[in-house]
Formats: sequence, structure tokens, C-alpha cells
Amino acid sequence: MKRSRIYVTKAIPENGLELLRRSFGRIDLNPTQKTLPRKELLAAVRGREGILSCLTDSIDEEVLRAAGPGLRAVSNYAVGTDNIDVAAATERGVAVTNTPGVLTLATAEMAWSLLLAAARRVAEGDRITRSGKFAGWGPTLYLGRAVTGKTLGVIGAGRIGTAFARLSKGFRMEVLYRARRPNRALERELGARRTSLPEILKRSDFLSLHVDLNPSTRGMIGRKEFSLMKPSAVLVNTSRGPVIDEKELVRALKSRKIFAAGLDVYEREPRLAPGLASLDNAVLAPHAGSATTEARAAMAELAAENLILALSGRRPKTCVNPEVL
Ligand code: GLV
Ligand code: GLV
Repeated sequence: MKRSRIYVTKAIPENGLELLRRSFGRIDLNPTQKTLPRKELLAAVRGREGILSCLTDSIDEEVLRAAGPGLRAVSNYAVGTDNIDVAAATERGVAVTNTPGVLTLATAEMAWSLLLAAARRVAEGDRITRSGKFAGWGPTLYLGRAVTGKTLGVIGAGRIGTAFARLSKGFRMEVLYRARRPNRALERELGARRTSLPEILKRSDFLSLHVDLNPSTRGMIGRKEFSLMKPSAVLVNTSRGPVIDEKELVRALKSRKIFAAGLDVYEREPRLAPGLASLDNAVLAPHAGSATTEARAAMAELAAENLILALSGRRPKTCVNPEVL
């Protein structure tokens, strides 16, 4: 059978596949949710004009070369593009697109789920209750940390960080944020104050990371940063695992240098740092920030549209290297 013009590295929701079939006819895809082994990925992309990739695929120079000179676009089914060598793609004139906007609220909601679960020990309580160890109510049992009126630190104030901060309104928090540029909407709507990372670490009761992964954010939260945080602090990460030094996080949680953490992403996904899984003060989600039916369908539509537009010589909706267009 003739190879299709595009290759889809994991089965995205049906609405996206349907759009792709309408434009390209039959399409070749990995029909599972499992990441293709490297050798299979290299073979699968050969001769394609477009690749619809996932954040679990490393789209580097070798993959771009394996696809060949006919490759015109890589449409990533994610907002983050740290899995793609964008510079190498740009060099080859290959457009790289992502799915911003449509997963913003889903991810902000996951950050709040983790924050509340970590503050009130929801996952630990669930384990205690279902294992039969719940022996009845007690005045000093299962104490967590109050959220309302506390100080919230938002690190990275792009779309997701802004949406996350806005959702704090009902909790009447003092909001501190760190960002390259002032975020006037947050300052106006929440009285948020832009400040330095050390000040946010020292003052926040709850901290949530919303930066993208790049050389300046890799390892941004490590031993020194944990030493500045309050022993009552709760750290939430729905961005990218390598932003936190996970070994240092385990140390900080184990020694109660901080109160708890709520994590959706890991340094070496899907592996966890030794000791992390046995800590009761870590709430661990399986990289599911954008995993709502609504957001994943919207991502499928946008990722499909971007690929269709790019291969028909039109401007994709959300391109991260528009200089190639
Ligand atoms: C998910 O992690 C994404 O970048 O979309
Ligand atoms: C990051 O991409 C964001 O939307 O905040």
C-alpha cells in the first residue's frame, strides 16, 4: 500500500483523525497510545511531508533527516515543544506547530486539583481509607494546610499561569508572580505583584510552576531553592518535570523541608526519582494536565488543522517558527 503523506505517532482523538483523512485520504498512524520505539519512529517518518507528533517523541535532527527533504511540517499535539529540535527544523525549512490556548484551562484546573489534594492530603487519605486503616475521626488526625487567604506564588505567567492565578479568586489569596514581562491583567484583576524568584520562594505558601522547559528553566528548583521555601509550603508542577531537580525534591519532602508537592510531570518520564513513590506528602498524577475530553478533542482539531494548513501552503494557526513560512 502507498505510504500516506503524513504520519501520526499516536492515535489522537477521532475528530482529529477524521479531519486528516478528509484532507489526506487514508493515513498511516500508530494506532496505540504507546510511544514508538526509536527505530520504528525513524522508519515510520521516512518520506513523509508531515508528522503529527506527541510530547513523548523526540523529534531531533536524526528524525528530521530520516523523514527526508520532503518534510514540510511537524505538528506537535502539545503546547510545549521541548521534545522538538526547533532550531534544526527551522534550518531545514520545516514548520513546527503546537496547541496553545485550547488546553490552558484544563491544565490550570489540574494544577488546582493537585494543590488542593496536596494541601488537604486527599490522595494519602484515600489510601488510608481504602486500606481499612481509617479507624474513625480524631481531633488531630490528617491535618492539612488552609488555602484561603494565603500567599500564592505563580512562576511563569503565560496563558496557563494566568488562568491558574485567576482561578485563585475565590480563595482571596495574595498573588506573587515571576515572569519576564509584567502581566497587567493579573496586576489589575488580582492585585498580583511581580517579584524575584527568591522572594516568591521565601514568601509563598503555595507555589505553582508554569514555565516552558528551556535551558534557563531546567533545574530551576533545586537544593538552594528548597532551602528558601517555608516548611509549610506546597509545590505544584504541571509544566515539565526537568524544571525541578527531582532528587532534591525527594530530599525536601522526606526531611519535611516543605509540606507537600503535587506533581503531574517528572524529570525522566515515566520513571520516578527513587523514593518519590513512597512519600505520603507527594500527590502524583500521570502527566494528565490537558487530559479532559474537551481539551483533547480541541487539541486534536487544532493539531490536524495546523498540519493541513501547512501542507497546503497556507499559514498554520499556531506556528512556533513562523520565520519558515
Ligand atoms: C502537555 O504537557 C503539553 O505540552 O501540551
Ligand atoms: C504556556 O505555554 C502557557 O500557555 O502558559
